[in-house]
Amino acid sequence: MKMASLKTMTSSVAALALCAGAAAADENAELVINGDIEIVTRTEAPAHLAGHLDEIRSGWTFRTRETQALEMDDFDNPGMIFVEKAIEAWDTVDGTEGKSCASCHGTAEEGMAGVKAVYPKWNEAAGEVRTMEMQINDCRTNRMGAEEWKYSGGDMTDMVALIASVSRGTPMNVAIDGPVADTWAKGKEIYYTRFGQLNLSCASCHEENYDNYIRADHLSQGQTNGFPTYRLKNTKLNAVHDRFKGCIRDTRGVPFGVGSPEFVALELYVASRGNGLSVEGPSVRN
Ligand code: HEC
Ligand code: HEC
Repeated sequence: MKMASLKTMTSSVAALALCAGAAAADENAELVINGDIEIVTRTEAPAHLAGHLDEIRSGWTFRTRETQALEMDDFDNPGMIFVEKAIEAWDTVDGTEGKSCASCHGTAEEGMAGVKAVYPKWNEAAGEVRTMEMQINDCRTNRMGAEEWKYSGGDMTDMVALIASVSRGTPMNVAIDGPVADTWAKGKEIYYTRFGQLNLSCASCHEENYDNYIRADHLSQGQTNGFPTYRLKNTKLNAVHDRFKGCIRDTRGVPFGVGSPEFVALELYVASRGNGLSVEGPSVRN
């Protein structure tokens, strides 16, 4: 089935050296973090993916045993250092109102358990779909009287990782209907749009060719349940919009901006493709 779909990429195969390589990953391994938090890394695809995918899989299942192992214990997960930094920021008073995140939300565990699983989500008062980053900046500017953080800067991405970490194990469950329906549809359209000189869509790689190799990369389904991800390649936490940007650049296309309405819509749609997989961030990837 996968081999047949390679035909849709013929013009790009040479450039990308796409091949069905030998699996280096332990695809049937199970992820239990700290011997305690059970992570769903493979499950039935959500109904809206009927005809596209039967099973959804976390990017973790495509990584090598060595990389997989780094995520199984917080002492081995280099992403947790950034979570520690965010715990400090969480408790630090900033801005004209003299408040910290903790002043209103208690500890991250108390205030944020389960929250990452439903983001991006609709904010009724603002009448917009909000990513976690947008919500954090809203709290900083409107509730704390503090400066906005850069959308995918270090402070922001660390904080998103802290908020993700207290939801680990909770299945992703973003809403796709009601007031978010239009944004979701726009995200879906972007997902299937071909970009760049290579004329590839997100689906060309992550739906039609996952489990194949591009150069040395074992292609995953491009799920976002593990974000922010600690990448061994750049040894820091990576925000989801930065990853989208990198993927569009790989098609030799011009990406949308970090925090742009296009990427917010795409994030909602991609998150919904992972509904059912556990929140896993901060995860460890190549
Ligand atoms: C002065 C009180 C206050 C402070 C300080 C504050 N928040 Fe909030 N926060 C709120 C309120 C109220 C809401 C609900 C707002 C809404 O739904 O629009 C909220 C909502 C949130 C949510 C979304 C929760 C959900 O269930 O969707 C996140 C995430 C969040 N805050 C993070 C932070 C972080 C991180 C900080 C520190 C940088 C912070 N907040 C500081 C009052 C505060
Ligand atoms: C040329 C092929 C290609 C295209 C097109 C592509 N990606 Fe990727 N993407 C990759 C590779 C290679 C990786 C790293 C290995 C992996 O996780 O698949 C990756 C990783 C990802 C990840 C990280 C997954 C994880 O578990 O950490 C996400 C999310 C992602 N891509 C989303 C997208 C989106 C959204 C698009 C469309 C805008 C897209 N990609 C287009 C090749 C591609």
